Amino acid sequence: MLEKTTAVILAAGQGTRMKSSLPKVLHSVAGRPLVHYPVRAALEAGCEEVVVVVGHGRANVEAYLSSTFGSTGKVKTALQKEQRGTGDAARAGLDAVGRDAERVLLFYGDVPLLTARDVAAVVKALEADRTAAIAMATCTTDDPFGYGRVVRDATGQIAEIREERDLRSDAERAIKEWNPGIYAAKIAFLQNALMSLEPNNAQGELYLTDVVRFAVARGKCVIGVPSSAEVMAGVNDRAQLAEIDRAMCDRLLRRWRTEGVTIRDGARIEDGVVLARDVTIESFAVLRGATRVGEGATVDVGCVLTNADIGEGVMLKPYSVVTDSVVRSRAQIGPFSHLRPASDIGEEAHVGNFVETKQTTMEHGAKANHLAYLGNGIVGEAANIGAGTIFCNYDGFQKHTTRIGKNAFIGSDSQLVAPVTVGDGAYVGTGTTVTRDVPANALAIGRAKQENKEGYADRLRARLKK
Ligand code: UD1
Ligand code: MG
Repeated sequence: MLEKTTAVILAAGQGTRMKSSLPKVLHSVAGRPLVHYPVRAALEAGCEEVVVVVGHGRANVEAYLSSTFGSTGKVKTALQKEQRGTGDAARAGLDAVGRDAERVLLFYGDVPLLTARDVAAVVKALEADRTAAIAMATCTTDDPFGYGRVVRDATGQIAEIREERDLRSDAERAIKEWNPGIYAAKIAFLQNALMSLEPNNAQGELYLTDVVRFAVARGKCVIGVPSSAEVMAGVNDRAQLAEIDRAMCDRLLRRWRTEGVTIRDGARIEDGVVLARDVTIESFAVLRGATRVGEGATVDVGCVLTNADIGEGVMLKPYSVVTDSVVRSRAQIGPFSHLRPASDIGEEAHVGNFVETKQTTMEHGAKANHLAYLGNGIVGEAANIGAGTIFCNYDGFQKHTTRIGKNAFIGSDSQLVAPVTVGDGAYVGTGTTVTRDVPANALAIGRAKQENKEGYADRLRARLKK
């Protein structure tokens, strides 16, 4: 818990280098917008309040934050009217900080790999050193191109942060220590420091980083907290977005593998997915959103699951697509099945190749093994749906329900024109168009009687040849 600490996350910038109409912090990494991760890190670190500074694309960023974090009651936004630099954004953020806060933890909304531990370490360093006005993370790597460099004085104390574009000499360009952008400071100090900022730099902006020079000029100490560079990479363009997406997904794969999940190369598991032990995920499967997979289930090659709830021991055969749906224990799906929203496939049920379901419940052991469209249906226990069956659910205006009783048998190539009910144990003959309810245990058959014309084929060929 970080008592009396408010996190201020800067997320108002346009992200010009992304070349996008979408605000940078809404670009997705491992299935969540960039801004999700710093907010989560601040909450997990125990900050009592989180202020997100918004500006560019404000309405969309605010909508995301309130739908995702609204229930915590801790996340609010502050508006930066014009994007005049990170220092100006920090000013806007500070204005919104609650009266109880004593300390501010400031960081950027475009650095998604950092964790609660990384940000908490900076606050703790400030608390541990009474002489320090600012604590800030620093990283050291061979090629810090693009980042602000940490300039130290002759005694090794941090003197200032200089942006890439403002570097003055080869000696400064050779500095390997850089600023990942996590700062902690007392509120009163930071307020004064931010008021002093001037746009004296290559970009003509107010730089948050200049608070360091302000502190040093007043004889105060700025402490550096050595931090791991791998988690501090910022997203400024689409190439960095791709790298960080990969790093985030690798982190998730590592985590699930240590929890007892077999995951083959090339599978993608996004943030928020939950996997039980002994799940197997084959290559090129993609699992997104609030997807859950139960113990011992297999997700075979190329399956795409979005908000799917998959039960224990389920077999999802290759290239099946499941969206906003439930598949219960030991059911078998695919290959090439398409379960559209609100499908509920019961225990031990089978849905086979080229079967599409939507808003349809299949009860225990029901089967639709080949080529069918089952929309707005309820298929009873152990019922069998033959190949080519269609639930005609839509009249151009409304959707209607098809009910199939338990143990019913629907012959191949039948159409059920909803609303319609087939009773328990009933039979529908192959090729029937069912427009009226079928009583339990009845046989419904509705097709033209077959006629065989002996020898006619030869005559027909002779005629057609001419
Ligand atoms: C910034 C730091 C740099 C550091 C790097 C780490 C400054 C001046 N530079 O540079 O030292 O090495 O981050 O990743 O702070 N933002 C606003 N309002 C603005 C401008 C930016 O809210 O007016 C937000 C952006 O949405 C973004 C964050 O601040 O989330 C950082 O801005 P960005 O332009 O990416 O700064 P960098 O050039 O990366
Ligand atoms: Mg940046």
